[in-house]
Amino acid sequence: MYFICPICNERLYKESNSIKCKNSHSFDYSKSGYVNLLKTKGRAKIHGDGKVMIKSRKRFLDGGYYQSLQNMVSEFVVKYLPENGTVLDCGCGEGYYSAEISRRLCEKKSHFSYYGIDISKDAVNAGMKRCKHLDLAVASVFNIPVEEKSVDLLLTIFAPFCADECRRVIKDNGYLIMVIPLENHLWGLKCAVYDNPYRNQVESLGIAGFELVEKAEIIDWITLESNETVKDLFSMTPYYYKTSRSDFKKLDSIRHLETEIEFGILVYKKDKC
Ligand SMILES: C[S@@+](CC[C@H](N)C(=O)[O-])C[C@H]1O[C@@H](n2cnc3c(N)ncnc32)[C@H](O)[C@@H]1O
Ligand SMILES: [Zn+2]
Repeated sequence: MYFICPICNERLYKESNSIKCKNSHSFDYSKSGYVNLLKTKGRAKIHGDGKVMIKSRKRFLDGGYYQSLQNMVSEFVVKYLPENGTVLDCGCGEGYYSAEISRRLCEKKSHFSYYGIDISKDAVNAGMKRCKHLDLAVASVFNIPVEEKSVDLLLTIFAPFCADECRRVIKDNGYLIMVIPLENHLWGLKCAVYDNPYRNQVESLGIAGFELVEKAEIIDWITLESNETVKDLFSMTPYYYKTSRSDFKKLDSIRHLETEIEFGILVYKKDKC
Protein backbone atom coordinates (compact mmCIF):
# COMPACT_ATOMS: atom_id res chain seq x y z
CA MET A 1 0.00 0.00 0.00
CA TYR A 2 1.12 3.56 -0.69
CA PHE A 3 -0.15 6.82 0.65
CA ILE A 4 -1.34 8.95 -2.26
CA CYS A 5 -0.85 12.64 -2.88
CA PRO A 6 -3.74 14.75 -1.52
CA ILE A 7 -3.25 17.17 -4.44
CA CYS A 8 -3.04 14.89 -7.52
CA ASN A 9 -3.80 11.39 -6.13
CA GLU A 10 -0.54 9.91 -7.47
CA ARG A 11 1.49 7.49 -5.33
CA LEU A 12 3.81 9.01 -2.78
CA TYR A 13 7.33 7.58 -2.54
CA LYS A 14 9.62 7.97 0.45
CA GLU A 15 12.69 10.09 0.08
CA SER A 16 15.00 10.97 2.95
CA ASN A 17 12.85 13.38 5.00
CA SER A 18 9.73 13.57 2.91
CA ILE A 19 7.39 11.71 0.60
CA LYS A 20 6.91 12.91 -2.95
CA CYS A 21 4.67 12.17 -5.92
CA LYS A 22 5.76 12.14 -9.55
CA ASN A 23 4.37 15.67 -9.94
CA SER A 24 6.85 16.87 -7.32
CA HIS A 25 4.32 17.55 -4.59
CA SER A 26 6.26 16.93 -1.44
CA PHE A 27 5.30 16.38 2.21
CA ASP A 28 7.88 16.51 4.97
CA TYR A 29 8.05 14.03 7.81
CA SER A 30 7.66 15.62 11.23
CA LYS A 31 10.39 15.25 13.83
CA SER A 32 8.51 12.31 15.37
CA GLY A 33 8.04 10.70 11.94
CA TYR A 34 4.46 11.28 10.72
CA VAL A 35 3.41 13.04 7.55
CA ASN A 36 0.57 15.54 7.14
CA LEU A 37 -1.66 14.63 4.16
CA LEU A 38 -4.73 16.54 5.23
CA LYS A 39 -6.27 18.24 2.21
CA THR A 40 -7.36 21.44 3.93
CA LYS A 41 -4.53 22.26 6.24
CA GLY A 42 -6.18 25.47 7.60
CA ARG A 43 -3.29 26.87 9.65
CA ALA A 44 -5.15 27.99 12.73
CA LYS A 45 -7.80 25.27 12.70
CA ILE A 46 -7.42 22.41 15.12
CA HIS A 47 -8.75 19.12 13.76
CA GLY A 48 -9.89 16.13 15.81
CA ASP A 49 -8.96 15.47 19.41
CA GLY A 50 -6.75 18.08 21.04
CA LYS A 51 -3.77 17.76 23.37
CA VAL A 52 -5.82 17.46 26.58
CA MET A 53 -7.91 14.59 25.22
CA ILE A 54 -4.88 12.82 23.77
CA LYS A 55 -2.92 13.04 27.03
CA SER A 56 -5.94 11.88 29.04
CA ARG A 57 -6.50 8.95 26.67
CA LYS A 58 -2.85 7.93 26.80
CA ARG A 59 -2.71 8.03 30.62
CA PHE A 60 -6.00 6.15 30.94
CA LEU A 61 -5.20 3.45 28.36
CA ASP A 62 -1.71 2.95 29.80
CA GLY A 63 -3.47 2.10 33.08
CA GLY A 64 -4.60 -1.15 31.40
CA TYR A 65 -8.36 -0.60 31.86
CA TYR A 66 -9.07 -1.51 28.22
CA GLN A 67 -6.43 -4.22 27.94
CA SER A 68 -9.04 -6.91 27.36
CA LEU A 69 -10.12 -5.04 24.25
CA GLN A 70 -6.53 -4.50 23.12
CA ASN A 71 -5.96 -8.27 23.47
CA MET A 72 -9.07 -9.27 21.58
CA VAL A 73 -8.55 -6.84 18.70
CA SER A 74 -4.92 -7.94 18.42
CA GLU A 75 -5.96 -11.60 18.27
CA PHE A 76 -8.52 -10.84 15.54
CA VAL A 77 -5.98 -8.93 13.45
CA VAL A 78 -3.44 -11.76 13.76
CA LYS A 79 -6.19 -14.23 12.77
CA TYR A 80 -7.55 -12.37 9.73
CA LEU A 81 -4.49 -10.62 8.27
CA PRO A 82 -2.90 -12.68 5.47
CA GLU A 83 0.88 -13.08 5.27
CA ASN A 84 2.41 -9.94 3.65
CA GLY A 85 -0.83 -8.11 4.43
CA THR A 86 -1.43 -4.42 5.00
CA VAL A 87 -3.31 -2.99 8.00
CA LEU A 88 -4.76 0.52 8.08
CA ASP A 89 -6.00 1.89 11.42
CA CYS A 90 -8.50 4.66 10.62
CA GLY A 91 -8.80 7.14 13.49
CA CYS A 92 -5.82 5.53 15.21
CA GLY A 93 -5.65 8.09 18.02
CA GLU A 94 -2.44 7.94 20.04
CA GLY A 95 -1.68 4.42 18.87
CA TYR A 96 -2.55 2.32 21.93
CA TYR A 97 -4.09 -0.46 19.84
CA SER A 98 -1.84 -0.17 16.78
CA ALA A 99 1.40 -0.30 18.76
CA GLU A 100 0.41 -3.57 20.46
CA ILE A 101 -1.10 -5.11 17.31
CA SER A 102 2.04 -4.41 15.27
CA ARG A 103 4.19 -5.83 18.09
CA ARG A 104 2.16 -9.06 17.99
CA LEU A 105 2.24 -9.20 14.20
CA CYS A 106 6.04 -9.03 14.39
CA GLU A 107 5.94 -12.24 16.43
CA LYS A 108 3.40 -14.06 14.25
CA LYS A 109 3.97 -12.99 10.63
CA SER A 110 7.15 -12.92 8.63
CA HIS A 111 6.08 -9.76 6.79
CA PHE A 112 3.31 -7.16 7.07
CA SER A 113 2.81 -3.38 6.66
CA TYR A 114 1.09 -1.19 9.21
CA TYR A 115 -0.39 2.26 8.57
CA GLY A 116 -2.60 4.60 10.55
CA ILE A 117 -4.39 7.87 9.96
CA ASP A 118 -6.00 10.36 12.30
CA ILE A 119 -7.20 13.88 11.70
CA SER A 120 -5.50 15.07 14.88
CA LYS A 121 -1.86 16.07 14.53
CA ASP A 122 -1.39 15.69 18.29
CA ALA A 123 -2.75 12.14 18.13
CA VAL A 124 -0.43 10.91 15.36
CA ASN A 125 2.49 12.70 16.98
CA ALA A 126 1.79 10.78 20.21
CA GLY A 127 1.33 7.60 18.14
CA MET A 128 4.77 7.94 16.58
CA LYS A 129 6.27 8.45 20.04
CA ARG A 130 4.52 5.30 21.26
CA CYS A 131 5.82 3.19 18.39
CA LYS A 132 8.31 4.47 15.85
CA HIS A 133 7.66 1.52 13.51
CA LEU A 134 4.14 2.73 12.66
CA ASP A 135 3.58 4.62 9.42
CA LEU A 136 1.19 7.38 10.44
CA ALA A 137 -0.37 10.29 8.58
CA VAL A 138 -2.64 13.17 9.47
CA ALA A 139 -5.66 12.57 7.24
CA SER A 140 -9.43 12.18 7.33
CA VAL A 141 -11.34 8.92 7.29
CA PHE A 142 -13.75 10.68 4.92
CA ASN A 143 -10.97 11.12 2.36
CA ILE A 144 -8.47 8.33 2.95
CA PRO A 145 -5.21 9.06 1.11
CA VAL A 146 -4.62 5.52 -0.16
CA GLU A 147 -5.27 3.77 -3.46
CA GLU A 148 -8.40 1.76 -4.05
CA LYS A 149 -8.30 -1.93 -3.13
CA SER A 150 -4.93 -1.65 -1.39
CA VAL A 151 -5.76 -2.54 2.23
CA ASP A 152 -6.10 -6.14 3.52
CA LEU A 153 -7.51 -5.20 6.91
CA LEU A 154 -8.98 -1.87 7.97
CA LEU A 155 -9.49 -1.13 11.65
CA THR A 156 -11.91 1.41 13.08
CA ILE A 157 -11.98 1.63 16.86
CA PHE A 158 -14.40 4.19 18.36
CA ALA A 159 -13.64 6.42 15.40
CA PRO A 160 -15.80 8.16 12.78
CA PHE A 161 -16.65 5.74 10.00
CA CYS A 162 -17.10 6.28 6.28
CA ALA A 163 -18.50 3.14 4.60
CA ASP A 164 -17.88 4.46 1.06
CA GLU A 165 -14.20 5.07 1.74
CA CYS A 166 -13.82 1.66 3.40
CA ARG A 167 -15.41 -0.02 0.38
CA ARG A 168 -13.04 1.88 -1.89
CA VAL A 169 -9.75 1.13 -0.13
CA ILE A 170 -10.24 -2.45 1.15
CA LYS A 171 -9.25 -5.26 -1.24
CA ASP A 172 -11.91 -7.68 -2.44
CA ASN A 173 -12.23 -10.36 0.26
CA GLY A 174 -10.33 -8.08 2.66
CA TYR A 175 -11.52 -7.38 6.20
CA LEU A 176 -12.95 -4.54 8.24
CA ILE A 177 -12.71 -4.78 12.03
CA MET A 178 -14.90 -2.32 13.87
CA VAL A 179 -15.13 -1.68 17.62
CA ILE A 180 -18.27 0.01 18.93
CA PRO A 181 -19.58 0.85 22.40
CA LEU A 182 -22.53 -1.34 23.43
CA GLU A 183 -25.66 -0.19 25.26
CA ASN A 184 -24.32 0.23 28.81
CA HIS A 185 -20.75 1.26 28.05
CA LEU A 186 -19.58 3.74 30.74
CA TRP A 187 -23.07 3.88 32.29
CA GLY A 188 -21.63 4.42 35.81
CA LEU A 189 -19.54 7.36 34.58
CA LYS A 190 -22.50 8.93 32.80
CA CYS A 191 -24.68 8.58 35.92
CA ALA A 192 -22.03 10.45 37.91
CA VAL A 193 -22.17 13.43 35.55
CA TYR A 194 -25.61 13.72 34.01
CA ASP A 195 -29.03 14.14 35.65
CA ASN A 196 -30.65 12.24 32.77
CA PRO A 197 -28.05 9.96 31.20
CA TYR A 198 -28.95 7.97 28.12
CA ARG A 199 -27.92 4.47 27.05
CA ASN A 200 -25.96 4.03 23.81
CA GLN A 201 -28.03 3.14 20.78
CA VAL A 202 -26.54 0.17 18.98
CA GLU A 203 -27.44 0.67 15.36
CA SER A 204 -27.99 -2.02 12.74
CA LEU A 205 -24.76 -3.93 12.18
CA GLY A 206 -25.22 -4.39 8.42
CA ILE A 207 -22.82 -2.56 6.07
CA ALA A 208 -23.56 -2.67 2.33
CA GLY A 209 -20.87 -4.56 0.43
CA PHE A 210 -19.65 -6.41 3.54
CA GLU A 211 -20.61 -9.64 5.26
CA LEU A 212 -20.43 -9.87 9.06
CA VAL A 213 -18.25 -12.96 9.64
CA GLU A 214 -17.50 -12.81 13.38
CA LYS A 215 -18.83 -10.89 16.33
CA ALA A 216 -17.61 -10.76 19.93
CA GLU A 217 -18.54 -8.80 23.04
CA ILE A 218 -16.62 -7.75 26.11
CA ILE A 219 -18.89 -6.99 29.06
CA ASP A 220 -17.07 -6.06 32.27
CA TRP A 221 -16.63 -3.57 35.10
CA ILE A 222 -13.68 -1.35 35.84
CA THR A 223 -12.84 0.37 39.12
CA LEU A 224 -11.11 3.74 39.02
CA GLU A 225 -9.27 4.65 42.20
CA SER A 226 -8.25 8.26 41.69
CA ASN A 227 -9.84 11.53 40.68
CA GLU A 228 -7.26 11.97 37.90
CA THR A 229 -8.22 8.62 36.35
CA VAL A 230 -11.94 9.42 36.54
CA LYS A 231 -11.32 12.74 34.79
CA ASP A 232 -9.00 11.12 32.24
CA LEU A 233 -11.67 8.61 31.30
CA PHE A 234 -14.27 11.32 30.90
CA SER A 235 -11.92 13.60 28.99
CA MET A 236 -11.01 10.96 26.42
CA THR A 237 -14.62 10.39 25.40
CA PRO A 238 -16.79 12.48 23.05
CA TYR A 239 -18.75 13.58 26.17
CA TYR A 240 -15.84 15.91 26.86
CA TYR A 241 -16.93 18.08 23.91
CA LYS A 242 -20.59 18.12 24.83
CA THR A 243 -20.64 18.58 28.60
CA SER A 244 -21.32 21.85 30.43
CA ARG A 245 -18.75 23.16 32.91
CA SER A 246 -21.19 22.62 35.77
CA ASP A 247 -21.69 18.95 34.86
CA PHE A 248 -17.93 18.47 34.37
CA LYS A 249 -17.32 19.97 37.82
CA LYS A 250 -19.33 17.14 39.37
CA LEU A 251 -16.29 14.96 38.70
CA ASP A 252 -14.15 17.07 41.09
CA SER A 253 -15.38 15.22 44.17
CA ILE A 254 -15.17 11.67 42.76
CA ARG A 255 -12.18 9.65 43.89
CA HIS A 256 -13.61 6.18 43.35
CA LEU A 257 -15.82 5.08 40.50
CA GLU A 258 -17.08 1.75 39.25
CA THR A 259 -18.43 1.61 35.76
CA GLU A 260 -19.52 -0.85 33.13
CA ILE A 261 -17.42 -1.27 30.01
CA GLU A 262 -19.13 -2.89 27.03
CA PHE A 263 -17.46 -3.31 23.67
CA GLY A 264 -18.70 -4.91 20.46
CA ILE A 265 -16.00 -6.23 18.10
CA LEU A 266 -17.30 -6.83 14.60
CA VAL A 267 -15.39 -8.49 11.79
CA TYR A 268 -16.65 -7.94 8.23
CA LYS A 269 -15.43 -9.44 4.99
CA LYS A 270 -15.69 -7.31 1.89
CA ASP A 271 -17.69 -8.79 -0.97
CA LYS A 272 -15.94 -9.26 -4.27
CA CYS A 273 -17.01 -6.49 -6.65
C1 LIG B 1 -12.54 8.20 20.41
S1 LIG B 1 -11.01 8.48 19.57
C2 LIG B 1 -10.45 6.82 19.26
C3 LIG B 1 -8.98 6.74 19.01
C4 LIG B 1 -8.40 5.31 18.94
N1 LIG B 1 -8.98 4.55 17.87
C5 LIG B 1 -8.62 4.63 20.26
O1 LIG B 1 -9.60 3.89 20.39
O2 LIG B 1 -7.82 4.88 21.19
C6 LIG B 1 -11.54 9.03 17.98
C7 LIG B 1 -10.36 9.46 17.10
O3 LIG B 1 -10.87 9.81 15.82
C8 LIG B 1 -10.18 10.97 15.37
N2 LIG B 1 -11.01 11.61 14.34
C9 LIG B 1 -12.10 12.42 14.49
N3 LIG B 1 -12.58 12.77 13.29
C10 LIG B 1 -11.78 12.18 12.35
C11 LIG B 1 -11.74 12.16 10.93
N4 LIG B 1 -12.66 12.82 10.20
N5 LIG B 1 -10.77 11.48 10.32
C12 LIG B 1 -9.81 10.81 11.02
N6 LIG B 1 -9.80 10.78 12.37
C13 LIG B 1 -10.76 11.45 13.02
C14 LIG B 1 -9.95 11.79 16.62
O4 LIG B 1 -8.90 12.74 16.45
C15 LIG B 1 -9.63 10.69 17.62
O5 LIG B 1 -8.25 10.42 17.68
ZN1 LIG C 1 0.90 15.15 -6.30
